[in-house]
Amino acid sequence: MKKYLLVLNFVLIVFYVKGQSNWVAPEEAKTKINPIHADENSIKKGEKIYKTLCSSCHGATGKGDVPAMQALNPKPTNFTTEKFQKQTDGEIFWKISEGHGIMASYKNTLSEEEIWDVITYLRTFKTSSESAEKDAKREKETSKKKAVKKTIEDFPFTVLINAKTTHIMEPKGFGLVIQHRFGITKFDETFVTNFMGLDLGANVRFAFEIPVNDKMQFEIGRTRYGKFYDIGGKYLIFKQTKDNTTPLSIAFSENISITTEKTPTFSEYATFENGSKFEYLWYHRLYFDSQIILSKNFTKSFSAQITGEFVWRNLTPYSDDDTEQPYVIAIPVSMRLKLGLISAISLEVMPNTHKETLPISIAYEVASSGNHVFQVVITNTDKILTQNIFTRPTIDYLDGEFMLGFNLIRYF
Ligand code: HEC
Repeated sequence: MKKYLLVLNFVLIVFYVKGQSNWVAPEEAKTKINPIHADENSIKKGEKIYKTLCSSCHGATGKGDVPAMQALNPKPTNFTTEKFQKQTDGEIFWKISEGHGIMASYKNTLSEEEIWDVITYLRTFKTSSESAEKDAKREKETSKKKAVKKTIEDFPFTVLINAKTTHIMEPKGFGLVIQHRFGITKFDETFVTNFMGLDLGANVRFAFEIPVNDKMQFEIGRTRYGKFYDIGGKYLIFKQTKDNTTPLSIAFSENISITTEKTPTFSEYATFENGSKFEYLWYHRLYFDSQIILSKNFTKSFSAQITGEFVWRNLTPYSDDDTEQPYVIAIPVSMRLKLGLISAISLEVMPNTHKETLPISIAYEVASSGNHVFQVVITNTDKILTQNIFTRPTIDYLDGEFMLGFNLIRYF
């Protein structure tokens, strides 16, 4: 075994040494004087030759960063380095003339004068402080990207069951979210006759998610219940990191919805609370939903999140004996347990200040890829927007009733 390792080591060292280009021009080449005046004309001619013969390997900016050439060993030289530019014109002339491995010899392709012109052009790739700055910036950006990779994906999709997560979709393409809830069902004969509630009236929300960058996204949705249209945005403030320097993820979300349904119809004697005649104006139809979401991945497979949520509706029904508040404060809690590579089970419990509402939902999810998830949902509310969930009563599981549904999320 040791012997093999030794041989392997040796082979690696040989390759390493071979890979290091130590291409040195002979002494006498160094002193060869460039007879061409390095003027605009020469640069122009050199540029033309460079772009035709050299840039395919050394890159348009002379950095040797053509992606297809990165597998070469040695790689095409980066002409913007000090190491390259420190050489005399004579050395470079000799190298272009003679060639080395992949780097062809150009003494038969180009005239001496043309080689000198290319060299004047190569000199324009000098490491200016500007390009050094750019390099530094790029370096920073790649290290930033690496840092992002080190963050944890606790909730890998933007929506769990009904709750929004801290997840921000990738900043490309768009997302489609379809949330479907069927009618109330029960384990009795109606379970069969109504086909698990699928025959009954259903609620569905279609939404598009539009990314802005890796911290922000917008959404626009349409819900069947109340013919609601909604627009919203979510902003990721922190993302949990693997090394726990940021121990949790925090996001802020805002969604505004408007019902476009003619109902509720009011009697012509209806009044506002202050006694003035009721008139259904457009702004009465608005609902607002603000959330601050905290999520944390605890173990490889278990994540949880808690949200502080405030729902406001501009129009609140009231009666003499039972007046509802125009707002609801909620603290939804969601948990997700990964069962395998592609499946997970989620639970959402949403305690809130509305008297008749305690939404509890469970979902079994199958995510065939990071771009696609399907969830089967058991829930006690057929509302989907939390503005609606928290302002309508939920059904009671203790009566044996529940609803089925599904969520489909797909990123394109
Ligand atoms: C097929 C790809 C390819 C093309 C085309 C190519 N080169 Fe190169 N060049 C290389 C590689 C690879 C090296 C590194 C060779 C080594 O170090 O062994 C190199 C090295 C050089 C060097 C030596 C740099 C140093 O610091 O030692 C010069 C100068 C050079 N090329 C100029 C040119 C010019 C001018 C052209 C066009 C006329 C050109 N190259 C076209 C691949 C290419």
